[in-house]
Amino acid sequence: MTKIVLPSGFTVDATNILNDKAVSSESLLHYFPKLADAVKAAEKVRHTGVVDGHLSKDGTPEAVLFPELPYVEDGHINSPAVLERLEALGAHAKADIDAVVSFGIGGSFLGGKVLFDAYAGEFWNQKSDEARGGYPQVYFSGNNVDPHRTQGLIDTLAASAQAKGDGFKVMLIVISKSGSTIEPMSNFMVVKEALENKGIAFEVVAVTDPHEGEKETLLHKLASREGWPIFSVPDGVGGRFSVFTEVGLIIGAVIGFDLRAFLDGAKAMDQACQSGDILENPALLCAILKYVAAEEKGRYIEIMMPYGDSLKSFAEWYVQLLAESLGKHRDDGNGSYGRTPVVAVGTTDMHAQTQEHQEGRLNKVVSFVRVADWGVKLLVPHMYDDFDKLAAFSGLDLGLIQNTALEANAEALTGDNRYNMTVTIPKVDEFSLGELMFMYCWAIFYEGQLAGVDAFNQPGVEVYKKLLGPKLAKHKGGN
Ligand code: PA5
Repeated sequence: MTKIVLPSGFTVDATNILNDKAVSSESLLHYFPKLADAVKAAEKVRHTGVVDGHLSKDGTPEAVLFPELPYVEDGHINSPAVLERLEALGAHAKADIDAVVSFGIGGSFLGGKVLFDAYAGEFWNQKSDEARGGYPQVYFSGNNVDPHRTQGLIDTLAASAQAKGDGFKVMLIVISKSGSTIEPMSNFMVVKEALENKGIAFEVVAVTDPHEGEKETLLHKLASREGWPIFSVPDGVGGRFSVFTEVGLIIGAVIGFDLRAFLDGAKAMDQACQSGDILENPALLCAILKYVAAEEKGRYIEIMMPYGDSLKSFAEWYVQLLAESLGKHRDDGNGSYGRTPVVAVGTTDMHAQTQEHQEGRLNKVVSFVRVADWGVKLLVPHMYDDFDKLAAFSGLDLGLIQNTALEANAEALTGDNRYNMTVTIPKVDEFSLGELMFMYCWAIFYEGQLAGVDAFNQPGVEVYKKLLGPKLAKHKGGN
């Protein structure tokens, strides 16, 4: 049994991967010197912001500052003033705004979406104002250039405006570090024009790189010219780590999510992730086991499978974190590293993917996320107890059925030496989400160190971008 349990109840259970039939304790001994180096590198980045070998897009050394994000202190990215300003924006949204549309893609979208889905949930926009605690409806856009969906969003906003009549007000939050990404900026312009044409009141908030002068982003220039409030995508924090900055927190702010509890969860996790002992440090344990599973056993696919609909976007966020951080050429020029992430949701995908997890190629690790307490009990009524198959689960709580299904899935996979791990979060709340997401940030850091890749750049995404610009230019004037 290999379990790490934190004071909150957050648990990493590695029993079904760390055992003599899968990754054995003996096989890990060989990696201890590398682990010690990874822990030293973690200490270094914590104290200096330096990750050896990390270069920015333009080839110059760049700080890596995600470790400071949980600590709300003067001089930090998350200072008391930053938190207060976000909370003030939240209060303004609550008092004056009916609907928020957030435009962003990749790291400027995925983290905020996790907070929204986990906290507000699928039915938020259908709830009454009272049930939303006065906070606005929230829509996401700019994470694709799908004209159908954007038209649907415009129609939805127009219908809400018509239903409410005068006084309906929209807040457009445009999030882009570079300030000119095609998906968010094109959708923003389309939606803004539609609101203007329909006479729907709106205001704009920009979230972008705060630099002025030569490095000023186009979004920053626009915001300054138009007088829109500007929030920051800070230096030294890549998009996939930015949920702990104004980029993700701004979404939390406009739905009444407790930003400080979220950062407290991240802080608690950060403290657990400082140990050099894999049986104490949950991130180090995840990193070494998945690294060895990939390198020695060919288990290089990771199925991220939370049990619960509201955590699906957590799995989507993790896909970017893993893929963009670790899928790349090794620093020493010795080939490539990477593990392929896949989103799955329990129990849904037990009816779609589990067949392959159970009998397909032995090339994957299944990472389960379990919620210990759903905070709601819904018992299946004894409605048709005259049918044995329905009587078999009548009287049981839905959450219990869900967690039991996870247990059965893990046991079935283990029975055929299919590697899996289970992370348990006590509840779906701000603190637990902070713990969960920050653990994976550190796990990716450690795995990057073990694999010898720069986890903080993404040169591979530039290749298609260089081709897309000239291709679009050919279409200009020919619509
Ligand atoms: O993580 C990343 O760097 C990317 O996913 C970016 O967040 C994404 O491409 C959006 O970029 P930007 O924030 O500059 O619009």
